[in-house]
Amino acid sequence: MGIVRNLKEYMARPYLKGMREQLRRLLEGKAGALDTQGFIEGTDKASLLIAGGGKKLCVTHDYLRHYEFLFGSFRSDKFSLIELGCFDGSSLRMWEKYFPHAEIFGVDLDEGARQHEKGRVHIVIGDATSQETFDTLKAKTGGAFIILDDASHAWGDQRRSFELFWEILRPGGFYVVEDLECGTLGAYPAYPPKVLDAQPFSEYIHDRSKILRWASDCQPEVNTYHFDQLPERVQKIEREMDMCIFIPGAVIVRKKA
Ligand SMILES: C[S@@+](CC[C@H](N)C(=O)[O-])C[C@H]1O[C@@H](n2cnc3c(N)ncnc32)[C@H](O)[C@@H]1O
Repeated sequence: MGIVRNLKEYMARPYLKGMREQLRRLLEGKAGALDTQGFIEGTDKASLLIAGGGKKLCVTHDYLRHYEFLFGSFRSDKFSLIELGCFDGSSLRMWEKYFPHAEIFGVDLDEGARQHEKGRVHIVIGDATSQETFDTLKAKTGGAFIILDDASHAWGDQRRSFELFWEILRPGGFYVVEDLECGTLGAYPAYPPKVLDAQPFSEYIHDRSKILRWASDCQPEVNTYHFDQLPERVQKIEREMDMCIFIPGAVIVRKKA
């Protein structure tokens, strides 16, 4: 394989042994179908990524083996998947190949993302934090079983999109927020945040899991002061959240079935 030939010298370095083993597992198809597909398409969600025009191998997020663990049993189902943030379309192509009956909807600010519209991949140009984009996705999908936020990574944007898009997450579906570590300003100077928030999304979602609703559900005579102060949209999220799984770098939230 051309890629491997280019990487031969690089990979000979002893400290890259772990990478070499992972590359072998990927090439031999032993790293899981989703990680292999992600590596082939070149998304940084995979365990490894070829960069620098084919000369450099990088360790990347390694989210896909976790997603396969959670979503693998739904692989042949028919559903809509929404991904906020398309970049070069690599993850959209990966989802299309991994889920043979799903409709894949990519959302991006950048008009250039239209080029990724092909087959079962549909593109919506818009801001992932805006009501208008949400309304368009709601009309086009009628609800999605998997929603991933891989857009600006700014904490405020992550929160705003989550509170908007939760409404069209299907019962039993999964909402994924990636790259939790990026901060108030997000990851990309070219895509400044639409919503400023100093609270990490990881803390925000932890707050949502504190069962403040319990008293109002089970013991109405107990003071529900804290829960009652939350906006109605957030109270609804707390009532509907089923589980919340942290993996290194990301969080996956499931809606009650
Ligand atoms: C990390 S890249 C997406 C990578 C892609 N999901 C993948 O795994 O291959 C982030 C993308 O988010 C887009 N973006 C940034 N802020 C956005 C926003 N507020 N709304 C929609 N898209 C946004 C950028 O244009 C960029 O293409």
